[in-house]
Amino acid sequence: MSNYLIFGATSAIATELARLLAKRGDKFILVGRNAYKLSAVAADISTRGGNIAGALTADLADISTHCALFAEARQRLGNIDCVVIAHGTLPDAERADSDADYALEQFAVNATSAISLGIRASTEMQRVGAGMIVVIGSVAGERGRQSNYLYGGAKGAVDIFFQGLRNRLYSNNIHVLTVKPGFVDTPMTAHLPKNFLFASPSKVASNILHAMDKRRDVLFAPWFWRWIMLVVRLIPEGIFKKLKL
Ligand SMILES: NC(=O)c1ccc[n+]([C@@H]2O[C@H](COP(=O)([O-])OP(=O)(O)OC[C@H]3O[C@@H](n4cnc5c(N)ncnc54)[C@H](OP(=O)(O)O)[C@@H]3O)[C@@H](O)[C@H]2O)c1
Repeated sequence: MSNYLIFGATSAIATELARLLAKRGDKFILVGRNAYKLSAVAADISTRGGNIAGALTADLADISTHCALFAEARQRLGNIDCVVIAHGTLPDAERADSDADYALEQFAVNATSAISLGIRASTEMQRVGAGMIVVIGSVAGERGRQSNYLYGGAKGAVDIFFQGLRNRLYSNNIHVLTVKPGFVDTPMTAHLPKNFLFASPSKVASNILHAMDKRRDVLFAPWFWRWIMLVVRLIPEGIFKKLKL
């Protein structure tokens, strides 16, 4: 049995992951922004066998809340075995092209807040000399494209930061898993037309659980995105910049 601290617990992917973990009788602190949604998720996880040690409401864009959230989690869980960082937004790309304040606000939710939580999780886990950090990035972070480079830039920052954190924490017995989903059918993408590339949140969650159990470093979910993104990365910049992507 393990103790989990899940940020963005109301996210469709995080909820599905918690449902899978609940079957193992694990213990959870759930953190979400919307108290109503959060209590529904907590009740759902509880009926599936999960032990809910707390459901904490916080706007994670407000980094000043992070310290108290970890203190509360430590008090209620004792040791925090695993921190999952799952919150995020899909910015309005057109607005972000010309509204710098909006762009930076969205960057902060998707990158800065995840980095803050990653640093605090590492400090917490170094104290006990073990643990796992799971962060949800995106295939969008693999290359900047005109249609979503603000979101991609934030996820790219998350990717590099947590890669470095993985390297730093390796000798401390702390594992870092970076998840890079492709398109997932969740509220975040509700406005997008669906096609065969979309995966269900439950499929992605079961991929994540498998990667956690195997202590994988990076997970493309589903698997085929590894090869799609390899091709995307291999296109020379001189050609890539002319594409309408
Ligand atoms: N869906 C995709 O196609 C896709 C692809 C690649 C990566 N991802 C990543 O997967 C992760 C999970 O997203 P999802 O697909 O499961 O979408 P989702 O169901 O829409 O979940 C996003 C979650 O982030 C929370 N959130 C947003 N801003 C927040 C803030 N300031 N403070 C606290 N919570 C905040 C939302 O809370 P509310 O419920 O209050 O809005 C929601 O629970 C995200 O990091 C996302 O970037 C998703």
